[in-house]
Amino acid sequence: MKFFVDTANLNEIREAHDLGVLDGVTTNPSLMAKEGIAGNDKIRNHYKAICDIVDNNVSAEVISTDYEGMLKEGRELSKIDKKIVVKVPMIKDGVKAIKQFTKEGIRTNCTLVFSAGQALLAAKAGASYVSPFIGRIDDISVDGLDLIAQIRHIYDNYGYQTEVLAASIRHTMHLIKCAEIGADVATCPLKVITDLLKHPLTDIGLEKFLADHKKANS
Ligand code: E4P
Repeated sequence: MKFFVDTANLNEIREAHDLGVLDGVTTNPSLMAKEGIAGNDKIRNHYKAICDIVDNNVSAEVISTDYEGMLKEGRELSKIDKKIVVKVPMIKDGVKAIKQFTKEGIRTNCTLVFSAGQALLAAKAGASYVSPFIGRIDDISVDGLDLIAQIRHIYDNYGYQTEVLAASIRHTMHLIKCAEIGADVATCPLKVITDLLKHPLTDIGLEKFLADHKKANS
């Protein structure tokens, strides 16, 4: 399973990278705005800075919602670095743009996916990744994990190569369940990745080992 960190914060990206388990980064316009990154040049430079930290897979989202605009923007984003994956919203022109990017060899991440039908369209258009938003589905009292399972099942039925990128992950249980279901990737806040480290028995066990060692060596 690949781990992506869902942030535009360079310190968090560095920390996740330094842990040695990071496979990529996803950003979105809200995450960029949260870091105060605005204006074309700043946005491009920020994506470049992210690409300089990680080994691959940096999702950069288009702002345009029309076909020509998405193509122009996506082509420009893809030129920043070969690690860039162009993130395209699941709308009609987005599907058409994904198809065209696929023809041009530009990798895509189809975002804002909330149904199996949308995921099927993304795969048929040739998206490299599909991003179902589990947490936001949970927010409307529907189990987001069921959607991950449904998409996994459908993609396996037909051998679609589109990778299932579980997004909008809120806690470690989401992440573990996604791994059980067989999501190819999970993108989550840094805290969810570092929370995987935590277990009280690890802390108690380590404390005891160190105390016993100290007693025997004093
Ligand atoms: C995915 O690529 C999105 O950036 C993200 O996972 C959205 O998560 P949120 O629902 O926590 O904003």
